[in-house]
Amino acid sequence: MAIPESFIQELLNRVDIIDVIDASVPLRKAGANYSACCPFHNEKTPSFTVSPTKQFYHCFGCGAHGTALGFLIEYQGVGFVDAVHELAKRVGMIVPQEVRSEQAVAAQKAAVGMIEALQLATDYYRGELKKSEKAIAYLKGRGLSGEIAARFQIGYAPPGWQNLTEVLPDYQSETLTLAGLAISNDAGRRYDRFRDRIMFPIHDQKGQVIGFGGRVLGGEGDDAGPKYLNSPETPLFQKGNELYGLYMARRAIREAGRVVVVEGYMDVVALAQYGIAYAVAALGTATTPVHITKLMRQTDDIIFCFDGDAAGRKAAWRAAMNSLPALTDGLRLGFLFLPSEHDPDSYVREFGTDAFERALAGALPLSQYLVEKLGEDNDLQSQESRVRFLNEAEPILKQIQAPRLGLLLRKRVAELVGISLDELENSLGLRQTAARRPSGPQRVNRRPLTLERHLIHMLLIKPQLAAGLEMKLVSGKTPECDVLRRLLELAAASPNLSSQALLQALQGEIAEALRTELSSELMIVDDTLDLEHEFAGALLQLQSTWEKQVSTAAELLLLAQEKGLQALTPEQRVLLQGSRWGHGKRKE
Ligand code: UTP
Ligand code: MN
Repeated sequence: MAIPESFIQELLNRVDIIDVIDASVPLRKAGANYSACCPFHNEKTPSFTVSPTKQFYHCFGCGAHGTALGFLIEYQGVGFVDAVHELAKRVGMIVPQEVRSEQAVAAQKAAVGMIEALQLATDYYRGELKKSEKAIAYLKGRGLSGEIAARFQIGYAPPGWQNLTEVLPDYQSETLTLAGLAISNDAGRRYDRFRDRIMFPIHDQKGQVIGFGGRVLGGEGDDAGPKYLNSPETPLFQKGNELYGLYMARRAIREAGRVVVVEGYMDVVALAQYGIAYAVAALGTATTPVHITKLMRQTDDIIFCFDGDAAGRKAAWRAAMNSLPALTDGLRLGFLFLPSEHDPDSYVREFGTDAFERALAGALPLSQYLVEKLGEDNDLQSQESRVRFLNEAEPILKQIQAPRLGLLLRKRVAELVGISLDELENSLGLRQTAARRPSGPQRVNRRPLTLERHLIHMLLIKPQLAAGLEMKLVSGKTPECDVLRRLLELAAASPNLSSQALLQALQGEIAEALRTELSSELMIVDDTLDLEHEFAGALLQLQSTWEKQVSTAAELLLLAQEKGLQALTPEQRVLLQGSRWGHGKRKE
């Protein structure tokens, strides 16, 4: 009867808690998180907070917290199994024990297998790049630094048909074709999809590789096939949902307060090399509403910068059209048109970072872009041309839900054709919608952080880090040290638990107040931190404290042995007794 834990994890991976909660409790963006008035207690200012990156909610007012699943259970008062079914339905997953077919179970396993295979392939391609003079020369020739290639995990798929057998010995496994790494021909023979190409791994929001773009080393139109070959649509990878570079750019986007959407892999990479690390690319498809919504979760300022050619202009218009339903009054959309011979890559290399950022500052706001575009080839001089203008504006105006932006745009259109706003709205059957969401400041408590707290936060977010922390370093007697030790055990046993699962496991073992505190603190931990780096720094501090303790204790011990315990001050005695040598041997 039990639903496997792996399925629950996979389910929580697939759903977005923001969508789940927003459907019942409209959420407002508040910094990196979303907030609302808490549905679980009565309040006037919103202290209910939802983290898109950590995928859980926490109320700073009443302490309620949990995952998307927990929310449904609490909010709708449904049981666990019903909640799982509801969530699964949303994302089109089949709850395992219902369909007891081996196929369903196999599909489940395959998803995990795919992630593993893609990561192995990534590592392999990176290794091959180091070995290939030809590929290195190509990237150097395009001005790429080794550091940037490493940051984007760029690799090289060498020529040859079955290279991946080297790292994926189970080459005939269905996983490889499912993940898009291998292709089976009609005769049932298998071969690598990517051959003799520069490989750009595509990451999901957790940093897992879900697909690749592979570029030929030469120009276009060789017999090597298309310039860029992308992974096919797979259960993990849907082009319309993913943005190249978003994972790497998260922190920079937050710091810069904006994101630049470009067309190509090389544009993202070149901009990053020039210090503009907040660029992402749609993967050779039009910018979709899903893309826009995804970006809106990170920032309120989105600038499209497509190539200066005709194709780029067309892409910009499609992006504008696709953004209309997602627009809000708080969102700023800009459009930057480069000179026609340039793309962002060539532009930044020729004119430099400052010039590119100046150009960004001069991007055309959406409303202005729309009006200019509608007015293109239309002098608005005759009745006919004004009617044409209105006809073209109509579908656009009708799609805009954002009240103020919509109003201003209608006003502008009315002015341009020489009618009143009322006349325009009547003629289009439009009326302003006034639905507004509640707003208010987010309360956040900041307290000075102890080293142990900091370590606890990091372990809760990324339990794999525990592998680097020796138990002996955590010898304190504070509640925090207790938590830390328990976390080390838990993480060693199952390094892939989510923050929420870990907090759950601590229930009953540590004070409930502390557990709630930790949960609320997790909400405000900056999760764009380079955790490995931070953790290593904290470890060094811990290590040096420990070493100091050890050497002090050793000195005291010597002193006590030479002159007797009486020679020590009471404080020194306590110190010595607290240390591992205080009373004979102790277990580590
Ligand atoms: P571009 O040709 O502008 O890409 O195509 P780029 O990154 O600037 O390429 P180079 O390396 O500088 O020449 C824009 C995007 O369209 C997709 C890719 O995602 C590419 O980055 N594309 C392009 C394909 O999927 N297949 C193709 O054959 C070409
Ligand atoms: Mn280019």
